Amino acid sequence: MAPSMSTIYTLFLLFSLAYSEESSRPFNKIYAFGDSFTDTGNTQNAEGPSGFGHVSNSPYGTTFFNHSTNRYSDGRLVIDFVTESLSMPYLPPYRHWRRTKGNDAFGVNFAVAGSTAINHQFFVRNNLTLDITPQSIQTQMLWFNRYLDRQGCEGVDSKCKDFDDTLFWFGEIGVNDYAYTLGSSISKDTIRKLAISSVTGALQTLLEKGAKYMVVQSFPPTGCLPLAMYLSPEDDRDDIGCVKTANDESNNHNLVLQSRLQELRKQYPHAVIVYADYMNAYRTVMQNPSKYGFKEMFKVCCGSGDPPYNFSVFATCGTPNATACTDPTQYINWDGVHLTEAMYKVVSDMFLQGNFTQPPFDFLLENKERNG
Ligand SMILES: *[C@@H]1O[C@H](CO)[C@@H](O)[C@H](O)[C@H]1NC(C)=O
Ligand SMILES: *[C@@H]1O[C@H](CO)[C@@H](O)[C@H](O)[C@H]1NC(C)=O
Ligand SMILES: *[C@@H]1O[C@H](CO)[C@@H](O)[C@H](O)[C@H]1NC(C)=O
Ligand SMILES: *[C@@H]1O[C@H](CO)[C@@H](O)[C@H](O)[C@H]1NC(C)=O
Ligand SMILES: *[C@@H]1O[C@H](CO)[C@@H](O)[C@H](O)[C@H]1NC(C)=O
Repeated sequence: MAPSMSTIYTLFLLFSLAYSEESSRPFNKIYAFGDSFTDTGNTQNAEGPSGFGHVSNSPYGTTFFNHSTNRYSDGRLVIDFVTESLSMPYLPPYRHWRRTKGNDAFGVNFAVAGSTAINHQFFVRNNLTLDITPQSIQTQMLWFNRYLDRQGCEGVDSKCKDFDDTLFWFGEIGVNDYAYTLGSSISKDTIRKLAISSVTGALQTLLEKGAKYMVVQSFPPTGCLPLAMYLSPEDDRDDIGCVKTANDESNNHNLVLQSRLQELRKQYPHAVIVYADYMNAYRTVMQNPSKYGFKEMFKVCCGSGDPPYNFSVFATCGTPNATACTDPTQYINWDGVHLTEAMYKVVSDMFLQGNFTQPPFDFLLENKERNG
């Protein structure tokens, strides 16, 4: 029986809708890696970074996700705004995507809170395993390979090993490595070398697999986090009022990371490798917070304790005695370490639209468009 005109018309409509949706979406998939700044639910309450309360509890997720989140914020993270801007759904966490009813059709997030860049065995050997998450970049790469294998991606010619339409998002990773070795005999130089070699090793693995589009976030100014402010002597401050030694350390880390990325660009000229300058994006906000709607640069929104930081390690966000402010959009920091949704939004706009990606994110998109 011949299909009626209306059936044909409906099919045509469906086809053009599907087509137009696809053409407005530059990537088919995003794979993300990183730590708690990028984790959309791989962490579980008991396994998250020590010192914080339960992420699945109020007040985490109070602004977005109706408190039902496993994110270290009041709402969306940079990676969530990235997927939104690329017309894609929020990335499900690798470990729990079935339970969270996530849809992995558009990619998966392997970032896990507390993760280090350096292999966990390094911390074990140095007796630095007190309460720390056993996951590292190596774990995330292992999960990624397992994920591909489970998709039936075995074999070199496999269709799922084609990453022409995939964006790889590397969130900040390595801040935990410095934090876990604080006060130990291991030097910052050692941590920097090992952490960066671990990150570039992972990037190289992805590039060898055929990754073509990659964004790598730098360290934020770790000296601006209330936890760092709270723990440091008051005379250890820089031009923006943050902990100078910590920010210098993050700057050094970023300089080396940038030079490694430059080497990778030479080695893999067909790939677009974007550096997302978290440091200068954050600094720009600190220099003019009211321009971005912020009133509080150093106080946490969620926690307890007195000014100047309203932060206490004894009752952190998510624990019974902590409370949350009424308007998180006025705060840069959420819980002493992690940022508010408002700040993540500002930073992601700076990455996606502004000057804080090198080469600019637009260049990556244009390149993608040219290559189809
Ligand atoms: C939160 O709940 C409201 C009301 O049920 C709903 O409209 C909204 O979509 C939910 N938001 C998320 C992110 O789940
Ligand atoms: C770790 O602890 C064990 C047992 O206390 C000790 O024998 C070893 O020397 C320590 N290793 C380091 C690197 O401190
Ligand atoms: C900070 O904490 C004090 C009491 O410890 C409270 O009165 C004040 O409202 C808090 N400030 C902010 C901005 O959250
Ligand atoms: C919460 O505060 C009360 C009253 O100050 C105190 O007795 C209790 O020990 C605190 N609980 C925690 C978990 O810190
Ligand atoms: C971008 O950078 C240029 C030169 O560094 C500067 O003049 C301009 O104000 C920046 N724009 C934004 C939106 O930050």
